[in-house]
Amino acid sequence: MSDAAPAPLAPAEAAALERAVALARCGVGAVEPNPPVGAVLLRAGVPLAEGFHREWGAPHAEAEALAGAGEGARGATLVVTLEPCSSRGGAKKQPPCVDAVIAAGVRRVVIGALDPDPRHGGAGVARLRAAGVETLVVDAAPTRALLARFAAHLGKQRPFVVLKWAQGVDGSWASADPAARWISGEAAREQVQRLRARVDAIVVGSGTVLADDPALTARPPGPRPLVRVIVDPRARVAASARCFVDGAAPTWWVTGPLRAGEPAAPAGVERLPLEAPRDVAQALLPLLHARGVRRLLLEGGPTLAAAFLGAGVVDRAWVFVAPRAVGGAPPSLPPLPPASQARLVPWGEDLWYQLEFA
Ligand SMILES: NC(=O)c1ccc[n+]([C@@H]2O[C@H](COP(=O)([O-])OP(=O)(O)OC[C@H]3O[C@@H](n4cnc5c(N)ncnc54)[C@H](OP(=O)(O)O)[C@@H]3O)[C@@H](O)[C@H]2O)c1
Repeated sequence: MSDAAPAPLAPAEAAALERAVALARCGVGAVEPNPPVGAVLLRAGVPLAEGFHREWGAPHAEAEALAGAGEGARGATLVVTLEPCSSRGGAKKQPPCVDAVIAAGVRRVVIGALDPDPRHGGAGVARLRAAGVETLVVDAAPTRALLARFAAHLGKQRPFVVLKWAQGVDGSWASADPAARWISGEAAREQVQRLRARVDAIVVGSGTVLADDPALTARPPGPRPLVRVIVDPRARVAASARCFVDGAAPTWWVTGPLRAGEPAAPAGVERLPLEAPRDVAQALLPLLHARGVRRLLLEGGPTLAAAFLGAGVVDRAWVFVAPRAVGGAPPSLPPLPPASQARLVPWGEDLWYQLEFA
């Protein structure tokens, strides 16, 4: 353990911190509920390698920068926007970055901001210093600003919820023609597969399973295992439903309380009975959070979407609008919360908009 005070911020380190903040911003929108993080490795004041947290489930910024530097990291200075993580516990699926930094032989670490999670804040710094790595905490405003969304979500103890739906220009979510399979075009459907690959769970209501019998898998699969969650308060979904029998991914069947004589879940399906399965905010989301779900994609029909919106637990919405009337009756949804950010772009033959809720 080194007791000497760390040297003050050098001009090359200040420039590297600015660059790390710019890198971190590239992950905004893809990493939540993780914080966006950027990192630069310096040797004698000259940038050697850099990295950022690209998306939920992907390697952390420090890991990327260290991989880029290889043996060159020995004796180098790591400049990183956020205190390196010191545990793999809870939802963290990546190995602790402090271990990697120490193992790589980094001599000095400059940290933009401490981890705002009270369970971890300061622990990374302590571990680095205990291992003899000179560690300076700058506590700079731009690095703290990067953490606003992460810090706001911390206390919520629920997954980050991404709601996705497709509709026609008439607002309809379902075609009047039972033979019509898709509302959106191929590009939008491919994007949905990418969204699925970036979450821990896909959630739908019984209505969607009964109407469409979907597979609810990511094709190709993402870096993390994906769970299918069917919310079926009255246990209406038949044992022969595709997601119950195909074995393609774990399936959790959230129902009301088990009634006497009721058959258990089909083989390979986990039944999760809840007293109040319709209570999205107080029952469903805490259950999923307790089971390790940190980011979920809500792909249900309008009934479940309305329940989530009504409970104020949607963090982001992806909406694909097909350039034609679809024909079914447009659903009535609660008003969307005010969006802190909105993007509207052409997506293949469709129009796509993404809304970020504060
Ligand atoms: N355009 C799109 O993006 C899109 C996406 C998915 C589905 N769809 C279409 O939407 C239609 C199905 O719509 P849907 O609204 O029935 O699907 P849904 O929202 O997936 O399922 C609705 C059912 O979920 C159950 N449920 C679970 N939690 C609930 C809660 N908190 N509040 C209320 N109900 C809850 C209810 O079952 P119980 O009534 O048994 O209690 C309800 O009937 C289909 O035509 C499908 O093709 C369109």
